Amino acid sequence: MALSSGSYHDRPEGIRILNRTSSGTLTSGDAAAAAGHADALRRRFPTIESLRQRAQRRVPNFAFDFVDGGANDEECVRRNARAFADIELLPRYCIDADTLATDMELFGRRYSQPFGVAPMGSAGMMWPGAEIILAREAQRRRVPFILATPANASIERIAELAPDVFWFQLYRFPNDNHAITFDLVKRADEAGAHVLVPTIDSAGKSKRPRDIRNGVRVPFKIGPKTFFQIASSPTWAMALRRAGMPRTENIVPYTEGRATRDSTAQIMHVKARGSHTWDELARLRDRWSRAFVVKGVLHPEDAERLVSIGVDGLIVSNHGGRHFDGAPASVDMLPAIVAVAGKRATVMIDSGIRSGLDILRGLALGASAAFIGRPFLYGLGALGEIGAPFVMDMFADELRTEMKHVGIHSVADAGEITVRHPGAWPLA
Ligand code: FNR
Repeated sequence: MALSSGSYHDRPEGIRILNRTSSGTLTSGDAAAAAGHADALRRRFPTIESLRQRAQRRVPNFAFDFVDGGANDEECVRRNARAFADIELLPRYCIDADTLATDMELFGRRYSQPFGVAPMGSAGMMWPGAEIILAREAQRRRVPFILATPANASIERIAELAPDVFWFQLYRFPNDNHAITFDLVKRADEAGAHVLVPTIDSAGKSKRPRDIRNGVRVPFKIGPKTFFQIASSPTWAMALRRAGMPRTENIVPYTEGRATRDSTAQIMHVKARGSHTWDELARLRDRWSRAFVVKGVLHPEDAERLVSIGVDGLIVSNHGGRHFDGAPASVDMLPAIVAVAGKRATVMIDSGIRSGLDILRGLALGASAAFIGRPFLYGLGALGEIGAPFVMDMFADELRTEMKHVGIHSVADAGEITVRHPGAWPLA
């Protein structure tokens, strides 16, 4: 595994700091130490679940729960995981699998992997500075990075850090004839975002019992319980000191008076509302000249209609089970949506992907790429900054291994895999 270069100031216990020489190269002793560290980490954390468990111990409970949790009884979160686990891929052997390529093209750009970072608002809850760390790593490896509207880093900052892989996710602000919505689009355009990604699955505020119990709401008050949790998470608290108090950075220009954590969160909370309507999506499509991808599609008839207004792509998603607990697993809707829209738009998937095998399952069912949310934040929560390369390596290594088992040489060949998918919705 190639641990990313540079010096890591956040270090998991037992992991030594790696420093570069003044010429910027690792000494051979450092390189050997890096390989040793990488190996030790792989043994301690061989799965996303093991990183999740460590993150749970290191991150304040309210912050971990905010990321880890889902809507209502969290059935949809479990359904996503079960649905992937139930999909069988029939192996093909006796094939020379030495030469194997994972790179692919999306909307005219080449990426090194068929997976990317899903948009996550307030990702800094799990690890302060999360968006910056993940965007840098995404740029370094050329994998798509989608910045969320309510992120803790701004459009302009991410465009600067990750110019080749930057996509922007858009929420809806209906006030003043969508003034904020269209200003965000203008900023994303001027910053050079390659893809605009309006999310449609946020029809209403969702109910997340863990957040209710933990008092995570707007405005967020640090009471004695929260204070105790922060005091018991010293590594996280240090990272917070370094990164500064997170704000909803994209909202800063729309605040009156001082733009603080509370004032930006308040505007987001009050003004971002509902699902982009059909008319609004058509208007957005007309204004945006580059690739236009709608996220949160589950119904094949919605997919059909989106194609008819000229979208370039769709992300089949149930928001990782964070919004509507009654939703089907997104992967169970994937075949029906590929059948309807796959020839006219690029279909992608997220929600519940926890391994390279899950990525391959999505590709085998017709997705062109898979987006991944929480696992990247588990990596950061567990390991700090080095969690970003660690998780990306884990997905990339696993994907290569599983591609060998099904005997394919490239991502484009995934459609040839023989699949049994008991949960697929027969809607197409
Ligand atoms: C999200 N997601 C999300 N999606 C979006 O379009 N805009 C947003 O602001 C957010 N915010 C957000 C915050 C956090 C903490 C999480 C975990 C997720 C949903 C995200 O893009 C993606 O759909 C899911 O995370 C995918 O599911 P997994 O990979 O987390 O299971």
